[in-house]
Amino acid sequence: MSIQPIQLQATTSSAFEITTPPSRAFRLQELARILKNRNVPYPIDSHTAQAYHAFAESGTPFGIGSLTESTVDLAEHANSQNFESLTTEEHQSWARLIEDQQATKHRYACREYLQGEQLFEINEKTIPDYYLLNARIYQQTGWQLATVSDLIPANIFFHCHSRKFFPVTTFMRPLGAGYLEEPDIGHDIAGHVATFTIPQVARVMNNHGLANDLIHQEKHEKLRLAESETERQAIENAASELLLLAGRLYWFTVEFGLVLEDQKLKAFGAGILSSPSETIFSIDSPKSNRILIDIENDRDLLRLATTDYLISEFQKTYFVMKDFDALDSLTPERILATVRTAKNLPHHTWMELVPGDNVHNVGTIMMSPLEKYNRLLANQQMDQCLTRTAIRNLMLYQSGTRPRNALEDEFLQKLPTLPISMLSRFSNAKQNGNPQYGNSYLDGKIT
Ligand SMILES: [Fe+2]
Repeated sequence: MSIQPIQLQATTSSAFEITTPPSRAFRLQELARILKNRNVPYPIDSHTAQAYHAFAESGTPFGIGSLTESTVDLAEHANSQNFESLTTEEHQSWARLIEDQQATKHRYACREYLQGEQLFEINEKTIPDYYLLNARIYQQTGWQLATVSDLIPANIFFHCHSRKFFPVTTFMRPLGAGYLEEPDIGHDIAGHVATFTIPQVARVMNNHGLANDLIHQEKHEKLRLAESETERQAIENAASELLLLAGRLYWFTVEFGLVLEDQKLKAFGAGILSSPSETIFSIDSPKSNRILIDIENDRDLLRLATTDYLISEFQKTYFVMKDFDALDSLTPERILATVRTAKNLPHHTWMELVPGDNVHNVGTIMMSPLEKYNRLLANQQMDQCLTRTAIRNLMLYQSGTRPRNALEDEFLQKLPTLPISMLSRFSNAKQNGNPQYGNSYLDGKIT
């Protein structure tokens, strides 16, 4: 069944044309054509291709890619894409977003991302058919799509990564919406997909998945030996904290990373490039800090893991890599070692610069490391990132910071000394029951 032509309204100076989503017959023909392609990094054998095409032909909505033996359990988050049921408004919103993204991506995205995007032949006028897109992604990267219903728990998100599945939604943002907190097709497909073709990014995404699985394995082994509910809760909390900190490494690179290209700032993070307005902001805005990092350097890696952020607005600090090669040093084991170290140390807010930073530019929102404590104790207005970081650190300082190795010792030595009066004021405020001191920082999310 083919869908009737839809009239896309003119919403910008470049009016949309009448667009007809490709018919079912055309899509199946196209699928048969691309499945035969052998001149790709991951060719599909004829038996698998035949089964995949038959599945698409049966009319079964696309759920989880079936081009390998591997699969993934999405539990209650499992979803599917029924291409025929996509609405005119959804196609229209996609077309508008792609047009806006292309205008900014061509100016601000790095070369590797733009080259990657060409490989997927994403139709700019209509939302991609996931059967076709999944086959193209697999052929170029070895990764496949897994369709999910909503914002999924970090555990499932990263477990998919460990098996080289990328979770994608079927929801398309309302027409004209820019930045969204929750992922949609515009973020998952038009933002993330091209990053898979940067081999170092695909490998580090897989490594994040493997690190996630290691943390869960270790948690389950400890839970088996736990003797009380208190002990079990402590084990759960410790694992949640490690996962949260590992998520920061992913956030500041795969989602919101910048890279130097011919000495110029370029974006590669999917969270940046899926939002035309944040794409411009991330490179041009004088508000944000930009810090050069070397992922091979343990101190710089720790800087990322100890930096908190919010997902509700544009980032206050962007981290800039000199190239993609250093990402290969971020093995699952190194991710684990970094987050275990970060768990023992004070953290930074998303606004501050800290001693040892290799600063590209100082943002107008920049604050010093001590300012968050002063603001908290003076009951000044602060965002949640500042509040929870200040409280976490003050509680840590109260219980005493004990460096376990040279890296932790160096990290602590470089931080400005906390005046003792601050800790007394914090203790008094806590005793007097200041309600905001009950905030937890263990609520970070990955999108
Ligand atoms: Fe994302």
